[in-house]
Amino acid sequence: MDFKTLITTPNDLATQRGDALVVVLPVDKSQWRLPKALADVVQDAVKHGDLELKAGKTLYLHRPAGMTAPRVVASVAANGEPKAFRAAVVAALGPLKGTGVKQLVVAWAGQDEPGAAQAEALVAAAADAVYVYRHTKPSAPAAWNLAGVQLACGKAAAAEVRTGLARGQAIAEGVLLARECANRPGNHCTPSYLAEQARELASTYGLQVSVLGQKEVEKLGMGSFLAVARGSHEPLKFIVLRYDGAAKKDAPIVLVGKGITFDTGGISIKPAAEMDEMKFDMGGAASVLGTFRAVAELKPKINLVGLIPACENMPGGSAIKPGDVVTSLSGQTIEILNTDAEGRLILCDALTYAERFKPAAVVDIATLTGACVVALGHHHSGLFSPSDELAQQLLEASRTALDPAWRLPLDDEYDEGLKTNFADMANVGGRPGGAITAARFLRKFTGNFTWAHLDIAGTAWKSGAAKGATGRPVPLLTHFVLARAPG
Ligand code: BES
Ligand code: MN
Ligand code: ZN
Repeated sequence: MDFKTLITTPNDLATQRGDALVVVLPVDKSQWRLPKALADVVQDAVKHGDLELKAGKTLYLHRPAGMTAPRVVASVAANGEPKAFRAAVVAALGPLKGTGVKQLVVAWAGQDEPGAAQAEALVAAAADAVYVYRHTKPSAPAAWNLAGVQLACGKAAAAEVRTGLARGQAIAEGVLLARECANRPGNHCTPSYLAEQARELASTYGLQVSVLGQKEVEKLGMGSFLAVARGSHEPLKFIVLRYDGAAKKDAPIVLVGKGITFDTGGISIKPAAEMDEMKFDMGGAASVLGTFRAVAELKPKINLVGLIPACENMPGGSAIKPGDVVTSLSGQTIEILNTDAEGRLILCDALTYAERFKPAAVVDIATLTGACVVALGHHHSGLFSPSDELAQQLLEASRTALDPAWRLPLDDEYDEGLKTNFADMANVGGRPGGAITAARFLRKFTGNFTWAHLDIAGTAWKSGAAKGATGRPVPLLTHFVLARAPG
């Protein structure tokens, strides 16, 4: 899909060609800037109750008189803010899906001009509208062949809009990669598959990559990561990706993604219902790959490291058992009281490994706890950090990316539950505050750098009829990385 600016005036929208024109209308009709012919028909529809001036409402017009475009969709937005604009574009694309529209023009009909954020929101909406998973379902209906999308704006706004479109496109590519990885079933998306994806990214964009296997991970002493992988016949991988956009001496940002390609729970096995969704337990890893793709496209002047511990969590003759004690890479011992709390066990060794990069900041991303889903539902990702500054940067990125996150507490007091007589810590802390105790566990491995944790258990995928990966939080992470880069 190709995105461009269309430098024009509201009146000239009347003679726009293209297969369809979407006009996003502010609720307040005194604000509208529309060509006369279109304003007349929309006003008439409002008067006769065919279009309610309420966010989310749309009006489809086929060959409206006085307009060159053969299809026009008027879509009402609560206001001109990026979030409302995106919602209005999503609503407008509904009636156009399944039509032959290849060339689309989108216009904001309010008084002000669209900016970079609206442009980015448009790309996100369009990319989502055309996505179809087909890797293991070739019979799925063909994706909408929307070849070109243009955002109308005045001359003065064009540079801004162009920047937003480019950023949106890079993020959409990253989101697509994350969704494609995560949607693949566990027998396709294995640790080796993730490693292959990382290698492919590296060769496409000239990144550095190395993939460690069982022997190297043993030699390093990642006893906790190794413990989780033991129950599976699928070989583990530890993936290290590097994007060098700044001077060598510049401290990098390190992203650590949980790469459990299937989580059965291990010996503490999960119930059968919805267990299939545990193929999405590599959503953190997928978001790291996606963010690298977006960043490699946009080329900010910053250094970035990606770490992905990848394995399956399976029961089996050699699987870890409740009560087993393992020694992590940090030297701290862990009593594994529940083998289903495996994410933190692979992340802790990756976080210790992150120290060697002398990072400016480390952010881990993980589908870590069902408790986070209970706390925040499916809208906000959970954010934890002892650093107010880093937390604020991530929250700001989440707002500008329209990829919401919510900060949860991380007080020392929550450590109580992780105490045990048999090791330096237990891997679970009981049901209350489960997302927080999981973050407190990770905290014990991050004392030597500035760190934040994103629990994406509720946001990385959707269940039910629309079951599938969302590609979140690639937009948040990309915005965060871009905001950290100078210039
Ligand atoms: N991958 C799961 C977390 C999860 C569960 C995400 C359901 C989304 C939906 C994680 O490995 C897990 O099993 N966590 C346990 C931790 C518990 C044993 C302390 C959980 O949340 O139940
Ligand atoms: Mn688990
Ligand atoms: Zn898991």
